[in-house]
Amino acid sequence: MRPIIAAIQNRHSTRNFLAQPVEPELIDTMIEAARLAPAACNLSHHRVLVIDQPEDLEVVRRAAYSMGAVAEAPLVLLHMADTSLDEPFRAMMEAMASDPNPAFDLSKLRSGRGAPFQLRVGREWALVNAALCGEHMMLQAVEMGLSGCWVHHFAHDEVREHFAIPAHIEFLALMAIGYAAKPVPASPGRGELRYPRYPANPAG
Ligand SMILES: Cc1cc2nc3c(=O)[nH]c(=O)nc-3n(C[C@H](O)[C@H](O)[C@H](O)COP(=O)(O)O)c2cc1C
Repeated sequence: MRPIIAAIQNRHSTRNFLAQPVEPELIDTMIEAARLAPAACNLSHHRVLVIDQPEDLEVVRRAAYSMGAVAEAPLVLLHMADTSLDEPFRAMMEAMASDPNPAFDLSKLRSGRGAPFQLRVGREWALVNAALCGEHMMLQAVEMGLSGCWVHHFAHDEVREHFAIPAHIEFLALMAIGYAAKPVPASPGRGELRYPRYPANPAG
């Protein structure tokens, strides 16, 4: 089987882990996988905090209600997005627009209905970029024999306060990572993803 689809098919949210720690070089490889994810305008919105020290793990475990994947994982990656990168990017675009010989002139661009070019930046942009990095990390973990689970249900304020993380860094998830204690069955499928063209053809 080709390796990428094998990792995708073998990834199942794992909530029970062995106590065995995750080797530092595997953590580095996961972060490298995140770094290589595609990113809108090539901006690095993604931030990862590696949590593997007992006193820090205790804080995130309690923040995650002492249950589920975070309760047992020897490694938790706090997966975040820096939402403060809009300003410098807008400034760069404005500088480009005021260049007498711009590489390309955005002000001349028009959509099919004549709308001027709109810069689609903002929080969603940061979250999309960071989310891509998260699944790169997870699939890389699976490819190296690890397992994990995304966990969004935790008391964000408790984690933010403990690690003194500023407000412009948003949390996407705690990613619980480790060696699975037992095989995890595949979850039921998520149904049809292909969106029908709209309006549907009444003639079928
Ligand atoms: C963004 C996100 C947040 C999630 N949050 C939680 C969570 O808080 N707790 C949990 O046990 N699982 C969480 N999950 C795991 C999902 O429950 C799981 O992906 C889903 O049931 C499908 O199962 P599978 O991952 O094994 O295919 C989360 C998954 C994603 C992608």
